[in-house]
Amino acid sequence: MTINSIQKEIEQLKKEKNAIILAHNYQPKEIQEIADFLGDSLELCIKASEIEDKDLVIFCGVDFMAETAYILNPDKKIVIPDLEAECPMANMLPEKELLEAIDKHPDAAVVLYVNSIAEAKQHADTLCTSANAVKVVGSLDNDKILFGPDTNLGRHVGEKLNKEIIPVPAGGHCYVHNELTVDDVELKRKEYPNAEIICHPECKIEVQHACDAVLSTGGMLKYIAESDNDEFVLGTEVDMITRINAEIPEKKIYPLVDSAICETMKLHSLEKVKQALEDEQPEIKLPETVREKSLKAVEHMLNASK
Ligand code: 13P
Ligand code: SF4
Repeated sequence: MTINSIQKEIEQLKKEKNAIILAHNYQPKEIQEIADFLGDSLELCIKASEIEDKDLVIFCGVDFMAETAYILNPDKKIVIPDLEAECPMANMLPEKELLEAIDKHPDAAVVLYVNSIAEAKQHADTLCTSANAVKVVGSLDNDKILFGPDTNLGRHVGEKLNKEIIPVPAGGHCYVHNELTVDDVELKRKEYPNAEIICHPECKIEVQHACDAVLSTGGMLKYIAESDNDEFVLGTEVDMITRINAEIPEKKIYPLVDSAICETMKLHSLEKVKQALEDEQPEIKLPETVREKSLKAVEHMLNASK
C-alpha cells in the first residue's frame, strides 16, 4: 500500500468514526499530513479541552500528552496508536520520589512539567509546559518551587524569575535535547553565519545561553513565521523542521544536529493510526481518583497561562 492510499483510508475512517487526529510537532511527515491539529504540548492541551463534537480522539504523541487529553475528556475515547510511545523523561520521576521530596520541602510549591506521569501529576499544585513555564511559575505566590522532572527547564525558569528552584529528581532530563552541546552551536554559527540559532528549554543551560532564543516548539514556529530573518538553526527534534518546511517553505531551516530524534515519538505509523481508528484501541484510561486530582493541576496551568 502506498502512503497516499493509507492516508486516503484514514481520511475516510475519520469521517465514519467522527474522529479527530491530534499530533505533536515531532511526528513524522506522513502523520503530520493527516493530523487535524498539530501543536506543542500546551496547544495540544488547549485543543483537548475544546473537543466537544468528536466521539474519538487519535492522539499521535507520547503517553503523557494523551493522558492529559484523557484527564480533560474522561467521557471521550482517547486512543494512542502505539501504547509504547512513552517519554523517558516523564518516567524519571516516580510518584514515591516526588512524595519524599514534598516531605522534605513542605513549604515549597510543587510544579511539574507536563512531561510527567499522571501518578506524579496528582500531587502537583500546577503543571507547566515549555511554552508557559515562566508565566505559570511567575504567577505563584511561593518563592520556593519544587520543580520536576526536567532540570534544564527548571534552570531556565530559575534564571528568569527570582525564585528558588529545587529540582526533583536531581538531573532529570530529555535524552534528545540534553545531548546538544555548545560546540554544536559554535559549529553551526560558522556554517550558517546569517542564521539565528534557537533551542528548546530542555537543552542544557549553557546551550541555551549560546543560542539566540530559547522557545517551545510552538514558539519556534511563531517566531520564525514573524521574523524578517530567513535562515534558522533549530536545537530540537528534527521533525519540528518538517512542520516549519510545510508551513513556511520560503525559510531555510537547519537542524543543530541531525541525530536529534525522539525514538518513541516515531513509534506511531500510518498503519497503526489506521488500525487505531478501526479498533478504537489501545485506549488511554486512568483511575478516576488520579484523574480528578491531576485535573486540578492541569486546570491551574490552563488558567495561569491565559
Ligand atoms: P513542546 O511543548 O515545546 O512541544 O515540547 C514537548 C516535548 O516533549 C519536547 O521534547
Ligand atoms: Fe520526552 Fe524528550 Fe521525546 Fe520530548 S523529545 S517526548 S521530552 S523524550
